[in-house]
Amino acid sequence: MKTLSFVNNKGGVGKTTSAQNVGVALHRFTGSKVLFIDLDAQASLTRCFGYNNLDFFNADSGSFILNDKTFDEIVVSTDVGDLLPASMGYIVAEDRIKASPLFPFNLKIALDKISHRYDFIIIDCPPSLSTSARIALVASDLYFVPLQAEYLSYEGLRNFLSFASQLSMICPHLALGGVFATRYNPRNRKKLSNDLVKSIKLQLQGQFLETYIRDNVAIPEAQSHHKDIFGYDPDSNGAFDYYKLTREMINKCFVKNLMEQLMRA
Ligand SMILES: Nc1ncnc2c1ncn2[C@@H]1O[C@H](COP(=O)(O)OP(=O)(O)OP(=O)(O)O)[C@@H](O)[C@H]1O
Ligand SMILES: [Mg+2]
Repeated sequence: MKTLSFVNNKGGVGKTTSAQNVGVALHRFTGSKVLFIDLDAQASLTRCFGYNNLDFFNADSGSFILNDKTFDEIVVSTDVGDLLPASMGYIVAEDRIKASPLFPFNLKIALDKISHRYDFIIIDCPPSLSTSARIALVASDLYFVPLQAEYLSYEGLRNFLSFASQLSMICPHLALGGVFATRYNPRNRKKLSNDLVKSIKLQLQGQFLETYIRDNVAIPEAQSHHKDIFGYDPDSNGAFDYYKLTREMINKCFVKNLMEQLMRA
């Protein structure tokens, strides 16, 4: 079992979209059992699964982390995996999580009880270095950082990576899975984006993934129809790019793990 977080303190860079579509690709193309965890009170990932009426939930991921409710009371099952949803109430839960003596290990400890049920746990984080990003990183094996090419800033990224790598000191299993560009198209000849991507690639060397996600209208359309990109338009650039990204992540990070699974099957 591997736990992957999609994190960046910058907003609107594609964290939720990538958590959704990489998680779905892992389910569809490797047959993996996936648990999605929404740790953002905006509940964007929860909405991607079609849960718009957040009152529907009598509990959310915060109640699970705080041990107010059991996992089975909260988890929702979907066509592509299980979901621990978020709701507005998560804002209050965050304060209690931070005040708990278990902080920042709260999520890791809670997940240890149920992680054997899944091959991958995918965590969507809010755009900050807050309580949720910390508990997510501490609970993760790998974290992936989406960057929107238009607004790439090496300074901001370096600060974020330094924050995350300091957490590796208290959780040695935590590693950077990779940084990747979203809403990027090198053919657009936007010199600023292209130069920035080139220079960040150079600085990060092997930690910058080769695959980039192009700007593709099918992606927000799929989300507004409460679908993932593969279910909404499997022939779109978005589906192709997220398939390619997931394949690169598997090759770079999990080949050994999946091979072991296949050998056991
Ligand atoms: N490749 C893409 N092409 C077109 N639109 C995209 C693409 N990726 C994401 N979007 C759209 O951009 C918006 C922001 O994406 P997303 O919600 O995934 O970012 P985020 O980093 O999770 O944002 P936040 O920081 O608010 O949580 C969404 O409306 C999404 O549908
Ligand atoms: Mg988001």
